[in-house]
Amino acid sequence: MNSSMTRRQFVIGAATVSSYALAARQVPMPTTSSSALQRVLVRADDEIGLVRPEFHGHFAEHLGSCVYGGLWVGPNSKIPNTNGYRTQAVNYLKELGVPVLRWPGGCYADDYHWRDGIGPRESRRKTVNIHWGGYVEDGSFGTHEFIGLCRLIGAEPYLAGNVGSGTPEELRNWIEYCNQPSGSTLAEERAKNGSPEPFRVKYWGVGNENWGCGGNMRPEVYADHFRRFAVYVREFGGTRPFMIASGPNGNDARWTRGFLDGLTGGRPDAIGMHFYEGGGFVDVATNFTVEHMNAQLAQYQLVEDAIIQQRALIDGYGGNRGPRRIGLMLDEWGVWDRIPAEDERKYGKLWMQSTMRSAVAAGLGLNVFNRQADKLYMCNIAQIVNVLQSLLLTDGPEGEHCVRTTTYHAFSLFKPHRGKTAVRTETPDAPAMQPGFVRGAPAGPSPLSVSASISKPGGELVLSLVNPRADADMQIDCTLRGTSPKSATAQILHDNDLNAANTFDQPDRLTPKSHPVRVEGGRVLLDLPRLSVATVTVQTA
Ligand code: AHR
Repeated sequence: MNSSMTRRQFVIGAATVSSYALAARQVPMPTTSSSALQRVLVRADDEIGLVRPEFHGHFAEHLGSCVYGGLWVGPNSKIPNTNGYRTQAVNYLKELGVPVLRWPGGCYADDYHWRDGIGPRESRRKTVNIHWGGYVEDGSFGTHEFIGLCRLIGAEPYLAGNVGSGTPEELRNWIEYCNQPSGSTLAEERAKNGSPEPFRVKYWGVGNENWGCGGNMRPEVYADHFRRFAVYVREFGGTRPFMIASGPNGNDARWTRGFLDGLTGGRPDAIGMHFYEGGGFVDVATNFTVEHMNAQLAQYQLVEDAIIQQRALIDGYGGNRGPRRIGLMLDEWGVWDRIPAEDERKYGKLWMQSTMRSAVAAGLGLNVFNRQADKLYMCNIAQIVNVLQSLLLTDGPEGEHCVRTTTYHAFSLFKPHRGKTAVRTETPDAPAMQPGFVRGAPAGPSPLSVSASISKPGGELVLSLVNPRADADMQIDCTLRGTSPKSATAQILHDNDLNAANTFDQPDRLTPKSHPVRVEGGRVLLDLPRLSVATVTVQTA
């Protein structure tokens, strides 16, 4: 409890506000103080849509030590491994549950030729990773190794095809190699390489960032390529490919319009937008100022706007009609901080620490996905190990340490939402974000962020609360409409220091802890300290 408000004051205050009509944009807004009472209304009877487990998807690129040295150490490594996969990483990922994993890029995808990664490992082609550091890869992690990893951790594989420097034939053959059960030369080759069973890969990306590293194309040109490739992206062995088109960079309407204008056939199943929350790349992860954190976190409002506007744009092109709705994906997202050259030298390209601020950022993003559940199909954070806002960190290709980051713990706090139905929430005391935040401009602190979901038929309600403020604790007074709370438990990830992180010396400095929560007079009450991500699980009547 913050010193400026005693628990008694909080309860009295809460009782007073609960008599307001909480459906209540009409309720006068109290000014936000350093210890603010925050009312939350959960409209349990007002459904948004399914929280698809795929909102918690992941991405593994051949970049730095994400794949080589991170997930894959090889069977001869001194690092404990299971057939070449880093055992500790596999265990942590299994425990969290990875619904979907995208591979091999990223920019790398449009320079990857799948035949370089099959057959005996010792005779695979060695290639230079032209996008990420110019180092030589030995090809030992290829299609079979990726599918093996997905099977180990229970993830649905998502392969990103090469459009920038590849051909329709190459993509077509990759799909046949993976999915044709038997009889064809490619299916026999797969069997000879150790997998008689087809891989049954459903998700296929048709290029990546084709406005940039995937070929620097104009959207109209990409649309032409997409149509041509799409003809050859076929069903083999009963596995219908789900085709994902390269979407805009952030909320770039020009790209989406240009692409959709150019489509006279070969409609994609989804469009993958990329949206990184860079914050101007001003600070390194462990040395953020409050001002820069606020600027970075303010971008989640832009992410939410982008989802709403891109969805409307796609629907305007009939994306909502026809036998299948064109899905909107956030194919790459997450914070992208300034990365010290020293860290990259030691641990690999784009190796980045996650802090309490990063966990708050993850919480803001995951709350957005719940609130916009009806508009989204899949969201993949970048990236799963070592690179950018990762779940796990290892100390370089030779290092045996493997640490769960604050981002891992934020994802685990959101896990109970998977498969539930998101419902609408209101936060009448949270000030609206300043519209049109411009990168680099000073931004105020982001307000309380909330999302909720319920199991169907009713029973359990999950409420996620994120306090992104570095200067204010909050007292949450939550009313449920359409159901009533019987009991509640809560878990919280919190540290007063926005730069606190799990390190190789202190791997469990930040982990979710049980947190006090009360059900009183039909309301759910809890303290929400500054810089925290909390999950409240409510049993309802
Ligand atoms: O995730 C790192 C890079 O960011 C990816 O390779 C690319 O798709 C994006 O620009």
